[in-house]
Amino acid sequence: MQGIVFLLIAWFCVCGLALKILAAETNTNTTTTTTTRANTTTITITKGANITKPGCQRQCGNLTVPYPFGVGLGSGCAIGEWFEINCNTSFNPPKPFIGGIQIYEISDNQLRVANVIAKKCYNESGGLVYENPAWTNLGASPYRFSELNKFTVIGCDDLALLTGSGGRNFTSGCLSVCSHAEDVPGYCSGIGCCQTPIPMGFTYYYTSLGSLNNHKNVSSFNPCSYAFLGEQDRFVFRGASDLSDPDFMQRTLATVPILLDWAIGNLSCSAAQKANDYLCQQNSYCVDSETGFGGYRCSCNQGYEGNPYIGPGCQDINECADPNNNSCEKICINTPGSYICSCPKGYYGDGRKGGQGCIAENTEFPVVKLSLGLGFGFLSLLLGITWLYFGIKKRKLITLREKFFQQNGGLLLKQQLSSNEGGVESTKVFTAEELEKATNNYADDRIVGKGGYGTVYKGILPDKRIVAVKKSRIMDESQIEQFINEMVILTQINHRNVVKLLGCCLEEEVPLLVYEYVSNGTLFHHIHNSTATTMLSWENRLRIATEAAGALSYLHSAASKPIIHRDVKSANILLDEYYTAKISDFGASRLVPLDQTQVTTLVLGTLGYLDPEYFHTSQLTEKSDVYSFGVVLAELLTGKKPLCMERSQEERNLATYFVTSVKENRLFQILEPRVVREGTLEQLQASAELVRRCLYLNGADRPTMKEVAMELEGLRKFTLRHPWTHQHGHEESTGLMTENESADLYTVPMSPYSDTTPLSGQYSLDTAQMILPANSPR
Ligand SMILES: *[C@@H]1O[C@H](CO)[C@@H](O)[C@H](O)[C@H]1NC(C)=O
Ligand SMILES: *[C@@H]1O[C@H](CO)[C@@H](O)[C@H](O)[C@H]1NC(C)=O
Ligand SMILES: *[C@@H]1O[C@H](CO)[C@@H](O)[C@H](O)[C@H]1NC(C)=O
Ligand SMILES: *[C@@H]1O[C@H](CO)[C@@H](O)[C@H](O)[C@H]1NC(C)=O
Ligand SMILES: *[C@@H]1O[C@H](CO)[C@@H](O)[C@H](O)[C@H]1NC(C)=O
Ligand SMILES: *[C@@H]1O[C@H](CO)[C@@H](O)[C@H](O)[C@H]1NC(C)=O
Ligand SMILES: *[C@@H]1O[C@H](CO)[C@@H](O)[C@H](O)[C@H]1NC(C)=O
Ligand SMILES: *[C@@H]1O[C@H](CO)[C@@H](O)[C@H](O)[C@H]1NC(C)=O
Ligand SMILES: *[C@@H]1O[C@H](CO)[C@@H](O)[C@H](O)[C@H]1NC(C)=O
Ligand SMILES: *[C@@H]1O[C@H](CO)[C@@H](O)[C@H](O)[C@H]1NC(C)=O
Repeated sequence: MQGIVFLLIAWFCVCGLALKILAAETNTNTTTTTTTRANTTTITITKGANITKPGCQRQCGNLTVPYPFGVGLGSGCAIGEWFEINCNTSFNPPKPFIGGIQIYEISDNQLRVANVIAKKCYNESGGLVYENPAWTNLGASPYRFSELNKFTVIGCDDLALLTGSGGRNFTSGCLSVCSHAEDVPGYCSGIGCCQTPIPMGFTYYYTSLGSLNNHKNVSSFNPCSYAFLGEQDRFVFRGASDLSDPDFMQRTLATVPILLDWAIGNLSCSAAQKANDYLCQQNSYCVDSETGFGGYRCSCNQGYEGNPYIGPGCQDINECADPNNNSCEKICINTPGSYICSCPKGYYGDGRKGGQGCIAENTEFPVVKLSLGLGFGFLSLLLGITWLYFGIKKRKLITLREKFFQQNGGLLLKQQLSSNEGGVESTKVFTAEELEKATNNYADDRIVGKGGYGTVYKGILPDKRIVAVKKSRIMDESQIEQFINEMVILTQINHRNVVKLLGCCLEEEVPLLVYEYVSNGTLFHHIHNSTATTMLSWENRLRIATEAAGALSYLHSAASKPIIHRDVKSANILLDEYYTAKISDFGASRLVPLDQTQVTTLVLGTLGYLDPEYFHTSQLTEKSDVYSFGVVLAELLTGKKPLCMERSQEERNLATYFVTSVKENRLFQILEPRVVREGTLEQLQASAELVRRCLYLNGADRPTMKEVAMELEGLRKFTLRHPWTHQHGHEESTGLMTENESADLYTVPMSPYSDTTPLSGQYSLDTAQMILPANSPR
């Protein structure tokens, strides 16, 4: 009768448990995912608050002048004389020049500057009535003609050559011959308009324009011909009307600039980084000049903006400040260089608008799950009956207890205990009956955990003390002595963060260990069970890690004989009613025959914690515990399981995934959002660095457990809070010249910068300040 009642109770318990497991499984989908920024258009150095050196003029006319450029010859506002802008205020608005060349726009890798156009006109009888040559000399400046320019020839009886030098010498050209205006299409096709690409990197060119027949046969619709170098994307050919348009040159000067590439100095990034005048500031990286003639530029890291040449460098973009700039549905958390989407309590999903979004948790049990649960329960019932049957049979072995006691080294233990005065008096040798009674005959509902080598039961002693009784698997006889020695050592350990061993029982087939009872389950459970994570605030995580590290450090160094735990994992860190960490299972792995250790580890899936060095060399040191502890720390930081076959290949092993993420600066994408929300930047970076060091492949490089404990203790003292999360509102970016604004610059008809030099064709940068007189080729 009693048995049936017990079975019914067990059945209900198991059933409920099964349902809970099933329900939990459906809700364990990741609640957060990280999102890297979508490619933004070029973030120019004119974004952010600090554009110029302190005290320097920011604008010249409509041009914003960012450092390394600066307004004023000899003003010290620029990085060097080639970057000094001569702002000529005799114009209204003032016009910026470098050397004799007017500057239209400065971007983070290029300049748009004024153009020059070669032009020749003939009368009906073929006489030359107008000629304007064109050349531009950049001299020894750090500017080079960009590949995005093209050489263009307009005319129906023309041949033009472009001769370039600086870098490489070359001559290239274009020929355009046509006989009827109707043959000329409305785009640059080769008829009436010929374009040719140019090589990159040269600094001087000269244009020579010639005619085959002096336009004699085409003068009715094409009296003049033109040749120029200019930004390809800005030039639009309008067909035959351009061939006779008297304003063609003015329009083209106003709309088609020359693109120049700029760079700092003539060193590559790798060489410049060693020099002491290296310019790239925080959160930026160095880019080699594309021209192939040396020089570098700086660029903000992804997710940052500002001027990379001016301290303090590029600033984090707060994507969360503007709903248009992030794809989060509910909660957006800004992180350095990126942001994280997350869902509020009661929702799951990745939180992204384009992804799963946030889905309300479903609390109803579908019928399928219910029946599954019942089936599972029934199965457990069968198992229970079988177990009972064997249990009864086993009782017959009671008479063997005395034998077991001796076989298990009971006499040896008694001897040891009595010879060891002090310290061990609290250790008790329990009888089999006592423990049977305490655990209600090892009832299933008393099981609180199953470990690598046995099962743990909750027991209540006659004096109402609650204990945990660990029943080991069959053990090797040769290890009995070792086991006894270890028992003696363990009973001497008295550390508030180590589970206390109260005693043992040697009358059973296998030794039973009696520990203090720790009520709040394992750390593993709290990290990975969504219903249990509430207490795991960042502060608590850090405290638990510190306590565990302290206990391990104590085992390694303070105990009378160093003890290597050998199986450090979050499932072996228990939490008591105040969530104080208690290390359990320490040294107990010796209960398992040495050659089987790895097998058990594999089966139990704690491979994710296993020190690879130990795995390969079988050489056990304290540093193996350090490695395993590093994995636990990573688990605490990321909330991810150490080994999960459902994750992609690279993410499968948390240890390697964590280390590569830190190396590639993706730390904030793998941290648990709650940790990111609550921890400070310094704490998170320092703890990630600590994990990285604990996970070094070479054990000797890893810190000792003592160092780890001290570092964690130090981190807890940081009380600075939330310096960069939850920022609302953002810096207004002022005075920006965006692509569009500057495009307007060029479309203003007859704009001010085309009126100065209608006839001239020459500029020179060679002697920084001059505009050469017109009409003097070469
Ligand atoms: C969990 O997420 C995966 C992809 O991230 C999805 O395919 C699956 O349907 C999700 N499961 C639930 C229960 O939402
Ligand atoms: C984003 O940028 C990367 C490299 O910077 C490039 O390979 C990729 O094609 C870009 N994607 C889009 C959508 O522009
Ligand atoms: C601008 O520069 C000053 C000093 O050069 C610095 O104190 C300040 O933080 C900078 N502001 C920004 C937004 O970078
Ligand atoms: C400004 O431009 C005017 C007209 O081109 C010229 O005469 C003057 O010398 C320039 N001033 C400076 C400071 O370059
Ligand atoms: C054309 O120009 C040439 C040289 O400039 C001149 O000699 C000739 O008279 C001109 N012819 C006409 C028709 O204007
Ligand atoms: C390029 O041409 C210039 C003269 O136009 C000459 O001085 C120089 O030596 C030439 N460079 C090479 C590499 O041929
Ligand atoms: C131009 O016209 C002359 C006669 O008017 C003719 O001989 C010559 O071939 C023509 N040239 C071209 C390129 O059409
Ligand atoms: C690089 O520039 C320095 C001075 O800025 C100059 O002395 C050196 O000759 C240059 N090197 C090359 C290869 O142009
Ligand atoms: C959001 O993006 C837009 C355009 O992409 C930009 O103009 C705006 O400044 C951004 N807002 C913030 C706070 O970065
Ligand atoms: C320069 O800016 C002023 C106002 O700031 C504007 O009126 C003017 O049209 C701009 N000039 C050009 C060439 O864009």
